[in-house]
Amino acid sequence: MEIFRVRIISFIFLLILTETLCSNAFGGSMKNEEDLKEGQNDIVNSISNYGEMKEDEWEMVQKRGNQFVVNEQPFYVNGFNTYWLMVFAADESTKGKVTDVFKQASSMGLTVCRTWAFNDGQWRALQKSPSVYDENVFKALDFVVSEAKKYKIRLILSLSNNWEAYGGKAQYVKWGKEAGLHNLTSDDDFFSHPTLRTYYKAHTVLNRVNTFTNITYKEDPTIFAWELMNEPRCNSDPSGDKLQDWIQEMAFHVKKIDPKHLVEVGLEGFYGPSTPQRVQFNPNTYAQQVGTDFIRNHLVLGIDFASVHMYADSWISQQISDTHIPFVKSWMEAHIEDAEKHLNMPVLLTEFGVSSKDPGYNSSYRDTLISTVYNTILNSTRKGGSGAGSLLWQVFPDGTDNMDDGYGIVFSKFTSTSSIVSLQSNRMKLFNSLCSSKCNWSCKKKNVLEKTLYHDEL
Ligand SMILES: *[C@@H]1O[C@H](CO)[C@@H](O)[C@H](O)[C@H]1NC(C)=O
Ligand SMILES: *[C@@H]1O[C@H](CO)[C@@H](O)[C@H](O)[C@H]1NC(C)=O
Ligand SMILES: *[C@@H]1O[C@H](CO)[C@@H](O)[C@H](O)[C@H]1NC(C)=O
Ligand SMILES: *[C@@H]1O[C@H](CO)[C@@H](O)[C@H](O)[C@H]1NC(C)=O
Ligand SMILES: *[C@@H]1O[C@H](CO)[C@@H](O)[C@H](O)[C@H]1NC(C)=O
Repeated sequence: MEIFRVRIISFIFLLILTETLCSNAFGGSMKNEEDLKEGQNDIVNSISNYGEMKEDEWEMVQKRGNQFVVNEQPFYVNGFNTYWLMVFAADESTKGKVTDVFKQASSMGLTVCRTWAFNDGQWRALQKSPSVYDENVFKALDFVVSEAKKYKIRLILSLSNNWEAYGGKAQYVKWGKEAGLHNLTSDDDFFSHPTLRTYYKAHTVLNRVNTFTNITYKEDPTIFAWELMNEPRCNSDPSGDKLQDWIQEMAFHVKKIDPKHLVEVGLEGFYGPSTPQRVQFNPNTYAQQVGTDFIRNHLVLGIDFASVHMYADSWISQQISDTHIPFVKSWMEAHIEDAEKHLNMPVLLTEFGVSSKDPGYNSSYRDTLISTVYNTILNSTRKGGSGAGSLLWQVFPDGTDNMDDGYGIVFSKFTSTSSIVSLQSNRMKLFNSLCSSKCNWSCKKKNVLEKTLYHDEL
């Protein structure tokens, strides 16, 4: 009861504060610096209560124009990737790590996690063969979803892989051969062969009823979005037609089963043949020949938002160099601009990172990289732009170092990285809580908010 009263009071306070910000946006006078600083403290205090207030409402994330919204508030994202959650949850001895990663991420203020909802034909497979599931592994995925909700983290669930890890398109082709399909010549037949398309469409994660919560996945607001595939590429058809056709069919298929959730493709974001004037932003000339096409692929009916990945070390040169930083900025800004001008949708940087195994690597370089990404997002956020957020690749809980391929971030080990991450989370939270459609999204243009977003001690 006590808590309830505090919530009401802080809610009223927040309303007044919001009204003030909104009315200031229409010609109110600027506060001086001192007032600003005091205001910031109030704002920070009120956000924490504000988050509590909404505790009982766990609504679907939706798209409005070029923004994500939840409960009439914008939902700008600071999040992370941990791909192996389902596989770890499938074994009692490692299950606790799933809880650990959500707990640690949530303490950093992260609100979205991207993870694999597939494991085809491999060790601890979810799908042992087409449409044949290991119930124990499915229960493990149920656990991941139910645990995410406990920590107020939403999930982007990817449905298949371009790469061979966890099966991927190569496994589908293998299954096709085992079933006697004789005209399969390349792993890209995954995209075009009618039988393999049927296999993909039969992967029934969407209709799964969670054994922990009894909520059907397609009804569960814990799921932020479905991703058709991790990093689809179709090198066998550089025109892009083959992949485009697959995206069209699968986006429609997923939306037909589940109209409530958002859908994204899972692309890395390379510009392709439909936009010769944009290929200059690609990290290399090879990128335009892998059968993907950022603008065209995202104009498909049923695709709600755009995805981009960012790996200067694997795309430009493995040797770490400060010259990668301007690429990071221009790569992101080009996609944000396209999402605003041509796609009218949000764009999420769904993977970005750098490997500690790269020659020339040091942790302050990684912090610079992360800060550059965060500030580029923030510059879009404060204008209410399409830059909807970013997901670190990749966050590991303590004691999983054996999984680290160099990209892993363990928050307890890197305190400077942790404070950069948590500062960004606070800024996103502040923006999300103070701006609403009630004031026509206009408080985001307000000077007070703008200054607060750039105040480093938040
Ligand atoms: C392979 O065979 C299927 C029918 O089994 C057909 O629909 C498809 O077009 C064939 N693909 C190629 C590349 O010949
Ligand atoms: C789920 O449904 C079963 C069977 O109806 C019921 O026994 C169980 O208590 C329910 N669990 C939850 C978390 O609602
Ligand atoms: C870390 O690496 C960057 C990029 O090569 C370099 O500019 C910087 O001086 C290095 N910092 C330290 C502390 O070694
Ligand atoms: C963000 O915008 C500010 C103010 O316009 C500018 O100084 C800064 O360089 C920008 N940062 C990035 C990373 O784009
Ligand atoms: C908000 O937008 C609506 C419709 O665009 C407009 O009628 C209304 O006057 C706006 N309100 C403010 C406070 O600007």
